[in-house]
Amino acid sequence: MTDPALAELAPEYVRRIAPYVPGKPVEELARELGLDPATIVKLASNENPRGPGARVRAAIAAAAGELARYPDGNGFALKTALAGRLGVPAAQVVLGNGSNDILELVSLAFLEPGDEAVYAQHAFAVYPLATQARGARGIEVPARDYGHDLAAMRAAISARTRVVFVANPNNPTGTWLPPADVRAFVASVPRDVVVVLDEAYNEYLEPHDRADSVSWIAAHPNLVVSRTFSKAYGLAALRVGYGVADATVADLLNRVRQPFNVNALAQAAAVAALADNAYVEESRALNREGLAQLCNGLDTLGIRYVRSHANFVLANVGEAGRINVALLRQGVIVRPVANYGLAQWLRITVGLPRENERFLAALSRAMAE
Ligand SMILES: Cc1ncc(COP(=O)(O)O)c(C=O)c1O
Repeated sequence: MTDPALAELAPEYVRRIAPYVPGKPVEELARELGLDPATIVKLASNENPRGPGARVRAAIAAAAGELARYPDGNGFALKTALAGRLGVPAAQVVLGNGSNDILELVSLAFLEPGDEAVYAQHAFAVYPLATQARGARGIEVPARDYGHDLAAMRAAISARTRVVFVANPNNPTGTWLPPADVRAFVASVPRDVVVVLDEAYNEYLEPHDRADSVSWIAAHPNLVVSRTFSKAYGLAALRVGYGVADATVADLLNRVRQPFNVNALAQAAAVAALADNAYVEESRALNREGLAQLCNGLDTLGIRYVRSHANFVLANVGEAGRINVALLRQGVIVRPVANYGLAQWLRITVGLPRENERFLAALSRAMAE
């Protein structure tokens, strides 16, 4: 039983928050349908279907021997490794409990009631959530071809705007902005507005499509670049991501984070994952092939989709609610995206070849029903 009087204790802007809807867990569907979890295919949360590599598993096993102690609250080893890789001082790196944490830290540090945050229509759901949780006002800028309209986003920045969120590539649309356009946008934003460039899917881009966005921070100290170990590095369960910012901005973000926001297993795993370049390369190659497999299958079925630069594809299946239920009944979990204003669409994460095949066969049956 819920108690409306208790709910009144929270500010109105908190009560209005529509909770984040995650992908359906495998175990939940297995319970609902009485299925063996091993037979279920989950292509719903943009995870790396390979999971972490052998070196990372070994690092996690080693760190598991030290669970009685708090983790290093300053994440020395991981920050040092990231700083070395990115060519910035460690003081410019902020660790997060997933990159979601970085988005939250920015909103905590820079937004208060009355402020505005600008983001695109169909952009990652956490931007409006993090904005609303601070009592700030979200300004949603209509998308162009399902992607960010940077000129319109620039025009939407007002004297009240404190934060702008840009996802590149964007989830759930998979759209991508050329680095030169993003850089020009960052340069055009007033210095008293923080630009969060969310690059959660950066490692899935082909190297020539990637922006050297961290190097822009020197000229644009209002830029925060966020990245994650949840996607190409295969560590979604451990929750570890990072932000790179001007040292002053990083210091502010560190003030509002929990003292031990990244656990010890996550830190050890991330250090090992960062060192394993071959693993990330292989994951990108596997994703490229899997994405082509999914797109070819969708073409064959005559289903329209948005060209993706990430590890998922957004497909217009028409009756998305019905198709989703039909897929679930066949043990295939994908992500409905009606909450993104995309009622006819489903987002499908690229899986292993056999998982992609299972999805396409299930979709074909669902469309014929
Ligand atoms: C665009 C984007 N940013 C950030 C995140 C947050 O991921 P994590 O907190 O696992 O790093 C996601 C996760 O789906 C995402 O799609």
